[in-house]
Amino acid sequence: MTIYVGSDHAGFELKEKIREFLAEEGYEFEDLGPYRYNREDDYPDYALKVCKKVLTGDKGILICGTGQGMDMAANKIPGIRAAVCWNEITARNASKLNTNVLTMGGRMIESDAAKKIIKIWLEPTEIEERHARRIDKIKKIEKGI
Ligand code: RB5
Repeated sequence: MTIYVGSDHAGFELKEKIREFLAEEGYEFEDLGPYRYNREDDYPDYALKVCKKVLTGDKGILICGTGQGMDMAANKIPGIRAAVCWNEITARNASKLNTNVLTMGGRMIESDAAKKIIKIWLEPTEIEERHARRIDKIKKIEKGI
């Protein structure tokens, strides 16, 4: 499993730290940009880039200023289940809900908190029947039922 990472300018600094962290921890990952700070970039572009890759069975981490814009954009893509996380509780919940994209706010949390969130979110979790049932219902909504 590869973890695809992306941000906008507001998440760029945190993304760079996360990239270092993923490398240190030995996770398989790919940074899909941006590769330099660009104040004019827009989060939907990177959300799309990362989510397209995630759809093949991988996971994604998206960072903008608050995590909300990335979350909104990612959740527009059928098959993506993104959750914005800001602490250990939300990270654990996102993992239980079988999310495939984690979003965070670079202006909202420190890098140590982000690292903790990532570790918890990536811990293997058994998906309980009730959560699987709810995901099936979400899939039906995606199909317009
Ligand atoms: C970009 O300046 C900022 O609005 C965006 O990164 C984000 O905070 C959206 O949720």
